[in-house]
Amino acid sequence: MPDPRPRLGFLGVGWIGRHRMQAVQRAGAAHIAAIADIDPEVAHAAAATVGCADVCPDLEELLSRDLDGVVIATPTALHARHVSAVVGHGIPAFCQKPLGRTASECRELVELARSADVRLGVDMSYRYLAAVRAALTALRAGTIGEPHVAELVFHNAYGPDREWARDAALAGGGALVDLGCHLVDLARLFFGTVAADRVHADLFASGARLGPDPSRVEDLALAQVTLTDGRVLRIACSWWLPAGTDALIEASFIGHGRALTIRNVGGSFYDFEALLVEGRRYRRICEPPDDWGGRALVEWASRLSCDRSFDAEVEQQVDVARVIDQIYGRAA
Ligand SMILES: NC(=O)c1ccc[n+]([C@@H]2O[C@H](COP(=O)([O-])OP(=O)(O)OC[C@H]3O[C@@H](n4cnc5c(N)ncnc54)[C@H](O)[C@@H]3O)[C@@H](O)[C@H]2O)c1
Repeated sequence: MPDPRPRLGFLGVGWIGRHRMQAVQRAGAAHIAAIADIDPEVAHAAAATVGCADVCPDLEELLSRDLDGVVIATPTALHARHVSAVVGHGIPAFCQKPLGRTASECRELVELARSADVRLGVDMSYRYLAAVRAALTALRAGTIGEPHVAELVFHNAYGPDREWARDAALAGGGALVDLGCHLVDLARLFFGTVAADRVHADLFASGARLGPDPSRVEDLALAQVTLTDGRVLRIACSWWLPAGTDALIEASFIGHGRALTIRNVGGSFYDFEALLVEGRRYRRICEPPDDWGGRALVEWASRLSCDRSFDAEVEQQVDVARVIDQIYGRAA
């Protein structure tokens, strides 16, 4: 009997590409048909971990295979080129975050996928945390009313070790685009819309203040964003913060007298809980463990097997990128 699972190609199997490929295999959600990475050693090592026999030298060769979708996990600057090539071939794509470095890059890719009528997904992995889902269910059940403020924090005691991630032109920015895109995306999910009206932002690199549209990457970004509907996002994110632990990650959605909080536990990058907070008390509505890292791709792959056509959900990434552009003080 033929294998009903989608046949996926993987382009870029460095840290996250390899992790996601292994997760999709563990879940049995797709057939890993072919792999390409510019570094043949990396490609062969990754292929060996999932028993894939087809290692291609480049994207062109990968696209010559019979594929239902391509998973892109190359450095951020290459997403636009790689997504355009895949989607331009009429093949659905799942891209690492951020989809593009700027809102205009994201918009072009979304329009390309729309006109080719192919599914384009983005790995906004935090959306798929059990804690986020529990908090969203509680929000939709009306437990906190309409939230009017989001307090969003993502501090890493580590920064990126890859060269490209410390180059603003290649990465699209620093800690804000790297970590803050997840936070703004959660605000987009919980508020249903994010369009900035007014932004106050402070960006720093090694303690020195950066001007608007910086050419250096910031390691600390603080921003207050008033949305067009009057709601407010307060964002703080950083690399190399003396946090006293690995990471401090929290998204709180505050309503009148009550809030929903999603936060990491014990400084972990992987363990999250969700709380329904009332005054000085709280009730835990979700707690670890939760194996969430590959969930966005696994869900994308299972939707792909029923429907490969354009899914408008990806438009939300343009909204997120626009807010990030405005925090950076560059034309949105
Ligand atoms: N969703 C998330 O939570 C999450 C987490 C980490 C990283 N990311 C994103 O994933 C992307 C990759 O990050 P990473 O940390 O895995 O980087 P990485 O440098 O470890 O991996 C990138 C891989 O792409 C390969 N590559 C480079 N140019 C290529 C080309 N032209 N063709 C084919 N392969 C090429 C490299 O050899 C490398 O193996 C970034 O955009 C990053 O923002 C997302």
